[in-house]
Amino acid sequence: MTVLVLEIGPVDDGEDFILIPAIRGGPAAYKYSENFWTVPQTFLDGKSRMIPVGRVLGGGTVFNGLLWNRGDAGDYDDWAALGNPGWGWNEMLPYFKKSETYTPVSSDAIANRFDIDYSPDVHGFDGPVHVGHPKYFYNVSVNFFDGLNALGVPTAFDPNAGTIAGASFLPINVHPTNMTRVDAKRAYYEPFANRDNLYVSTGQRVTKLVFEEATEGDIDGRQDKRDSEGFVLSQNETAAPQTVKARREVIMAAGAIHTPQILQLSGIGDQSLLESLDIPVVNPLPGVGQNFQDHFMVRISSPYGNESYTYPTQLNDPEINDRARRQYFESRTGPWTAGPPDGVAFPSLLDATNRSDSIASAARQQRAGDHLPAGADGSLTAGYRAQKELLAAALQDRSRAAHEILNDNAGGLSVATMRPFARGTVAITSTDPFAAPAIDPRYGANPVDLAVLAEALRFNRALLATDPMLMLLPEQVAPPEELLDDEEGLLRFVRENVQTEFHPSSTCAMMPRHLGGVVDARLRVYGMRNLRVVDASVFPMIPAAHLQAVVYGVAEKVRIRC
Ligand SMILES: Cc1cc2nc3c(=O)[nH]c(=O)nc-3n(C[C@H](O)[C@H](O)[C@H](O)COP(=O)(O)OP(=O)(O)OC[C@H]3O[C@@H](n4cnc5c(N)ncnc54)[C@H](O)[C@@H]3O)c2cc1C
Ligand SMILES: *[C@@H]1O[C@H](CO)[C@@H](O)[C@H](O)[C@H]1NC(C)=O
Ligand SMILES: *[C@@H]1O[C@H](CO)[C@@H](O)[C@H](O)[C@H]1NC(C)=O
Ligand SMILES: *[C@@H]1O[C@H](CO)[C@@H](O)[C@H](O)[C@H]1NC(C)=O
Ligand SMILES: *[C@@H]1O[C@H](CO)[C@@H](O)[C@H](O)[C@H]1NC(C)=O
Ligand SMILES: *[C@@H]1O[C@H](CO)[C@@H](O)[C@H](O)[C@H]1NC(C)=O
Repeated sequence: MTVLVLEIGPVDDGEDFILIPAIRGGPAAYKYSENFWTVPQTFLDGKSRMIPVGRVLGGGTVFNGLLWNRGDAGDYDDWAALGNPGWGWNEMLPYFKKSETYTPVSSDAIANRFDIDYSPDVHGFDGPVHVGHPKYFYNVSVNFFDGLNALGVPTAFDPNAGTIAGASFLPINVHPTNMTRVDAKRAYYEPFANRDNLYVSTGQRVTKLVFEEATEGDIDGRQDKRDSEGFVLSQNETAAPQTVKARREVIMAAGAIHTPQILQLSGIGDQSLLESLDIPVVNPLPGVGQNFQDHFMVRISSPYGNESYTYPTQLNDPEINDRARRQYFESRTGPWTAGPPDGVAFPSLLDATNRSDSIASAARQQRAGDHLPAGADGSLTAGYRAQKELLAAALQDRSRAAHEILNDNAGGLSVATMRPFARGTVAITSTDPFAAPAIDPRYGANPVDLAVLAEALRFNRALLATDPMLMLLPEQVAPPEELLDDEEGLLRFVRENVQTEFHPSSTCAMMPRHLGGVVDARLRVYGMRNLRVVDASVFPMIPAAHLQAVVYGVAEKVRIRC
């Protein structure tokens, strides 16, 4: 068997902003991203939000924030409960392990000081992605964890063992000796680049899939399913399109925005959408581009004023930064090995607020269709009904995270929803494959999400008022103190400040067809014989995790040996 990998973007040049934890990402990385804009977010403040995604061999893993976690065991048990046998936590764990080579933190003293616990049973030690810890730790994390402990949020557990609720240091995907990023290109491509059955072609945009001729009506519910023959690709808008035929299988791994876009361009999707653009319907699947989920985040800063502590912002001083740079290149130690945020928290709603019962009961009282996009297909409403039940239960479960606090050790305490109730859409607006689709995350469409974020902001205030955090002399800048007890004002603040946490997902959900699913439990697109989706699109519900380790776990589970 031969494998051909197609990628729109280029191959990266191993720039420092890719490889080095402390200076990773940022605007420099835009040369390797596609910065989409959402449609105006009418449930927020009416403004569009930017959502960057990777456009480079290796996708978002090439410049992402390096955080490595899997979420709560219940997140995967929920996947299984939504009609996906084999996808519960116990069944996923072997594949999470398979993707990683884990290196525990280098000293017991550090482990004790920073509550870095480690369960050997849940880690892999010979997988492609190196995962470990920095060689430098900010003491501010200790104050953060102590403050959380004072509010009843637990620490000192391995965050990748199936409980993320609590607070912990997340590992990062860096090589333990040279402290450089290990991404999909470096882990899953470079070691195999010399195989003579592997072809990689960059600068190629797949514009649509092509199918074998089929007579009308033989697609669905019959054993003769439609074959995907291959796909069309183009280097740019003026280049002549080429057709490539696949002998065995086509695997879509274009991410949660491009994958549904390409399926829709190819005639797989909601029938009325396709007909409105005169696209011949190959396979009417209403779930394509629906069920969009993202963790949405409110960026918050409460700058610390106590100068007895060391903060990552001190690297803005050229002299300090120069010292850090030299230390990094000489010994692969020091602050350049650390990529803030590192010590993060994932409080359950019960930990965050006394209002969890009223928020959960508000969620339960909603009818499934209340906050879905208008005109949603009945199957999508049915699927969401099943999802909402699981989401509401998680709101009252102390072992399930409701929000994340991304501590950047300098007063940045941004909060993000971990289990959003809102469902958005990705839909093409023209038959031009070079045109961006309409992306509507529908942030804030479900008031439960806004209520969770408002509680998260109040929880930040409680945290900043604990003795260990007071020691840092934090300044409450945003939201302004007076809004914290003003219900309407706080919600307005949330609406004005929501942005993506860079985790678009779930637009080609793995669920049964009658629940609006697009792929089955082997990730095969319904109605198609040899077309699969293997990327963040297939998550039926987004887990309480940063997504890269989850994407690798999913890919390992359906891996084909060749
Ligand atoms: C700024 C940022 C920070 C992040 N931080 C973290 C973090 O700290 N930890 C974490 O776990 N996750 C993080 N993530 C998220 C994580 O990187 C993504 O969730 C993950 O990469 C998604 O994987 P994917 O395979 O679904 O899609 P992608 O990584 O988006 O890969 C899709 C690939 O397909 C290519 N492609 C798309 N369309 C076509 C086409 N038509 N033809 C050919 N090729 C195409 C794209 O160019 C891209 O390379 C971050 C993401 C961003 C953007
Ligand atoms: C952190 O605290 C320890 C113990 O007090 C101290 O030895 C170390 O120098 C501190 N680190 C930094 C970066 O301030
Ligand atoms: C880091 O070290 C590993 C192991 O030796 C090596 O494979 C990798 O290429 C190195 N990375 C860089 C950027 O030097
Ligand atoms: C488009 O691609 C073709 C074929 O590779 C190339 O010759 C041409 O220069 C490209 N045009 C632009 C504008 O990049
Ligand atoms: C919840 O209520 C208890 C008892 O009234 C109180 O001690 C606690 O601080 C409250 N917790 C939060 C997070 O508001
Ligand atoms: C600043 O931090 C130091 C070190 O923890 C502490 O001793 C001091 O009391 C703090 N300053 C204030 C004003 O709290």
